[in-house]
Amino acid sequence: MTDLIHLIADAIWFILPAYFANAAPVVAGGGPPIDMGKKLGDGRRILGGGKTIRGFLAGLIIGSLVGILQGRWFIGPLLALGALLGDLANSFFKRRIGITRGGTAPGFDQLSLLVGALLLASPIEVPSLEVILVLFILTPPIHLGTNFIGYKLGLKDRPY
Ligand code: CTP
Ligand code: MG
Repeated sequence: MTDLIHLIADAIWFILPAYFANAAPVVAGGGPPIDMGKKLGDGRRILGGGKTIRGFLAGLIIGSLVGILQGRWFIGPLLALGALLGDLANSFFKRRIGITRGGTAPGFDQLSLLVGALLLASPIEVPSLEVILVLFILTPPIHLGTNFIGYKLGLKDRPY
């Protein structure tokens, strides 16, 4: 039991900059979209209006800061950047299959940040298989839980 709690604590500590990078845009996002409103040949937005320059920068700064406060100067910013890029990739693919901004892609919406963060951090550090497994199990409920709190606080207009 204490081993499991220890494992969960290790996993959350490892991924914390990514979680903050993903949450910050909900609070600080807005303004011009990264894709500048442009569409691809399919007639759909490249990324959509939910991916903003300010949100991206806020996520990078806040996530990196959390990593630096953890004493993880190099991997912290990488985890933050990876989470943000994973989220952009998710929006890109959602647009390509016709899901408009704010539409859901269950599983992908919650895990793209994790996959992006693990990928970008992997040249520096790959966590143990148990930590990775715990992160895949815990990230979706944590993501849905924090989104629901954001909705209750009036930061988001959808509860997911
Ligand atoms: N956000 C932002 N910039 C980003 C990421 C997110 O400004 N790079 C803000 C937007 O206000 C967005 C909110 O955070 O609406 C929630 O993010 P998310 O759920 O990822 O975006 P969606 O609006 O659902 O858009 P998509 O369908 O593209 O995921
Ligand atoms: Mg969304």
